[in-house]
Amino acid sequence: AYLPALEEQLDAIWEAAPAVLSVVFGVPSDAVVAEAHRRGIRVVGAATTVAEAVALAGAGVDAVVATGLEAGGHRVSFLRRAEDSLVGVLALVPQVVDAVDVPVIAAGGISDRRGVAAAFALGASAVQVGTAFLATAESAVNDAHRQAIRSTSADETVLTRAMSGRLARGARNRVVRAIEASGTIAPFPMQNWLTGRFRTAAGEQGLGELQSLWMGQGAPLADYPTAAEAFAELLAGVPPRT
Ligand SMILES: Cc1cc2nc3c(=O)[nH]c(=O)nc-3n(C[C@H](O)[C@H](O)[C@H](O)COP(=O)(O)O)c2cc1C
Repeated sequence: AYLPALEEQLDAIWEAAPAVLSVVFGVPSDAVVAEAHRRGIRVVGAATTVAEAVALAGAGVDAVVATGLEAGGHRVSFLRRAEDSLVGVLALVPQVVDAVDVPVIAAGGISDRRGVAAAFALGASAVQVGTAFLATAESAVNDAHRQAIRSTSADETVLTRAMSGRLARGARNRVVRAIEASGTIAPFPMQNWLTGRFRTAAGEQGLGELQSLWMGQGAPLADYPTAAEAFAELLAGVPPRT
């Protein structure tokens, strides 16, 4: 099989016993939520719309991630097509806060203290940040990707199915333009497998124009040499506890 079965992945989770199990692309089953809770593991689900947040809260998750269209990487939409589930953080977070009783974690475009402060002002209880850490020394991305994060403007990122068959935000590089122009994109996971034929070699050779350069609209703000510096900046935006 191309990907391990969900049961196999869950067995690994139960063995690792993390504090939190975070799921994307759907609502965890009652059995998964119950087993996690039996083991003292909190469950977090990710939503791109209010309806998805309500579905997740109804399944008993302990917190909901509200993921705005600014976010880097794959759109985790599951009720409707990702293209029809595009809401920005500024509108999404307060509506999700109003719709569910569990804490809301804001995600998408938050790359410095201003973004963190804004998310809390919208009612979020926490933030989830990806892009701001991508270019740090600790990140596993290669140098071409690191360089691209530092040099790509927000309007040069794009939501595309070209690289994996699923809608995701990254740099609009040469390979994205070429695949979109071809008009032929296979569904996930086939497209992901197909582009994987050249992505690995491109990464090894430092060819950023032929890789998936995932990053969010906050990329120009994500200029932190180390993860510690990114954390320090983001923490400065957390309001004092009242
Ligand atoms: C390269 C990349 C890979 C990601 N992989 C995952 C993942 O495996 N699971 C997940 O829940 N979120 C994943 N995310 C989403 C982040 O957890 C986070 O929600 C998102 O990056 C927030 O938006 P930002 O990139 O604007 O900070 C990924 C994001 C990026 C950029």
